[in-house]
Amino acid sequence: MNKNFLNDFPILRGNMNGQPLAYLDNGATTQKPESVVRSICGYYGGCNANPHRGVYELSVKATKIYEDTRRKVAEFLNARPQEIIFTKNATESLNLVAYSYGLTNLHAGDEILITIAEHHSNLVPWQMVARATGATLNYIYLAADGNLNEADIAAKLTKRTKILAVTQISNVLGLINDVKTLAARAHEVGAIVVVDGAQSVPHIAVDVKDLDADFLVFSGHKMLSPMGIGVLYGKKKILDAMPPFLSGGDMIEYVEEQATTFAELPQKFEAGTQNVGGAAGLSAAIDYLRGVGFEEISRIERDLTNFAVAELKRLPYVELYGCDSTRDNKIGIVTFNIRDVHPHDVATILDAQGVAIRAGHHCAQPLIKFLGQTSTCRASFYFYNTRRDIECLIEAVERVRSVMHLD
Ligand code: ALA
Repeated sequence: MNKNFLNDFPILRGNMNGQPLAYLDNGATTQKPESVVRSICGYYGGCNANPHRGVYELSVKATKIYEDTRRKVAEFLNARPQEIIFTKNATESLNLVAYSYGLTNLHAGDEILITIAEHHSNLVPWQMVARATGATLNYIYLAADGNLNEADIAAKLTKRTKILAVTQISNVLGLINDVKTLAARAHEVGAIVVVDGAQSVPHIAVDVKDLDADFLVFSGHKMLSPMGIGVLYGKKKILDAMPPFLSGGDMIEYVEEQATTFAELPQKFEAGTQNVGGAAGLSAAIDYLRGVGFEEISRIERDLTNFAVAELKRLPYVELYGCDSTRDNKIGIVTFNIRDVHPHDVATILDAQGVAIRAGHHCAQPLIKFLGQTSTCRASFYFYNTRRDIECLIEAVERVRSVMHLD
């Protein structure tokens, strides 16, 4: 029997619209355990000061919390502390790579290769880079089972490809891409590999050395931490050669009237006062996740996903997307539509029954269009969800068509 995680997450024991809450929007953001909330409160209540700037005890404490978290994140990803840059979120991390690496290294005739399953944050910045440099933005499309089309990869990953940017887990389909193999193939043609780990780092064990990713990004808030803290991992050699992204305080070595020399990594990429409270929360979140263990997290989420897919497949009016993978690589996310009902109506009807899901384009409009839809419903799970949450989802889905007077 699983530990009863609900004891650690008071919000999950609450109600929504007078019904017990079934929180199934973890792809958007996760709830926070009490240990994370305590860690943030402990920082603001006991040692708030500006890090890296004061010699007094409080500032030294704030600096220690911030830098200890960096070391913990580095260990968590199997990286070195200088290779961990704190940002606001995965989106800012991807923008940093696009603007600092992309604008500097790409030229007309070069190609950026991404997949059609990318979140807008790993797509729009590359459009901007392509426009500014004259590079071309190419897409790997999907095979019928929702996985990346092998023939497309073979045809489009060429010597012209300078950047391969790929999500490790799609935020719409929940399918795990084999990033390690993709990275090896990209390196063979001389491309660098950017991995969007926003939906993978919270759910599966990620080792940047094993993947041989050149860059990998994630957001704290999708893994138990507060909003406003994210991470960019980059190989030191590549980060060293990149120009700063944002400039100002704390990222400098010397500033003269007309010129500036920059700080070493990681400060070079961390301009301005940083989110120490967020780092305190992220540190406690990593401790919590390690306590549960990624084997257990993956086991629970796969079980919930298989259960939800099997139950939804029973309903003839439900259309599922990415639920027939020929590989055993689906985790945590189920996307569907109910025939003749707009996803926003579905989500509203589910909300009245205490079930929180996301409806819309999920910040992945090209993928939704590729699927032949304009929007979908998405239920996304975390380890603290239970089979009871899935039963609530199914019971609520079963009521949708009668509420809409379709049956
Ligand atoms: N990226 C988040 C999601 O997929 C917001 O919902």
